[in-house]
Amino acid sequence: MSDQADILVPPSTIPANMPPSQVGAASAEASAPLPGPHRGDYYISVLKRLSQTRAVKRYLEVGVCTGESFAQIVAERAVGVDPAFRLTHNVATNKTEVRLFQMSSDAFFAEVDVPAALGGPADFAFLDGMHQFEYLLRDFYNTERVASPRGLIALHDCLPLAEPMLLRDSQEAVRLSRETPYNGWWTGDVWKVVAILAKYRPDLRIVCADAPPTGLVFVSNLDPGSDSLRRDYCRIVDEFAAVPNTAEGLAAFYSGISLVPTARILLGFDHSLYFRA
Ligand SMILES: C[S@@+](CC[C@H](N)C(=O)[O-])C[C@H]1O[C@@H](n2cnc3c(N)ncnc32)[C@H](O)[C@@H]1O
Repeated sequence: MSDQADILVPPSTIPANMPPSQVGAASAEASAPLPGPHRGDYYISVLKRLSQTRAVKRYLEVGVCTGESFAQIVAERAVGVDPAFRLTHNVATNKTEVRLFQMSSDAFFAEVDVPAALGGPADFAFLDGMHQFEYLLRDFYNTERVASPRGLIALHDCLPLAEPMLLRDSQEAVRLSRETPYNGWWTGDVWKVVAILAKYRPDLRIVCADAPPTGLVFVSNLDPGSDSLRRDYCRIVDEFAAVPNTAEGLAAFYSGISLVPTARILLGFDHSLYFRA
């Protein structure tokens, strides 16, 4: 299997000198159509199996809600963050120690000593909080800072399937999706974070997996000392706010990535490929 085939290469999809307002429109002609429903393993099943395969010691989840995904993770210690928990699952399952912080992720990263809460750097994180790209960008760089260089960060909802679910307003997304096959789905525009990471952090390893319902994106080769995303945050947000959050913009994004079947990640795949040697 070629490494390159699995990695997003947006620098060639989105030329550095192209005005942001033209990114979606200009590349739409050459873009691939949107994919149909993802056909891989369900995202929680993938996360659970990766946590087992990797023998995760310290897990961090941003956006816990009912605890459905959190409860499935196998880890020694786990920390969850959500401004409004609605727990219906036993989050302590398969863990020795669990800590929950009921606050926004921004407050969490500003106020909490995360390595102390986890007992060391995170080796696995799942980012599934606010579905607006600037939030996920902050969640990513804040998580990378407290992660192990050999850690893995999984991003949820970055591989959406149709325009209504892209809307930044969740109620509008739900309303407009009523007449579609994706009734009630909301991913927001967090897909832009994948393009941002590929453009501004080519040192990261990015793998896009076809996990239903709306994809999993795995980021590894982490550099906890990197501060470029934080330093250039305002400029990057301005740039990508101008990228059309439309079916055309999304199609242009898909034309620059390869979707890896989850089976290839879970079965017979050399997991070390995902991490620093
Ligand atoms: C899709 S749900 C999480 C689902 C859960 N990870 C799962 O798969 O079972 C998204 C959660 O993000 C939380 N959220 C919204 N804004 C947030 C923020 N600023 N920081 C952290 N979490 C946030 C919401 O309260 C909501 O519970």
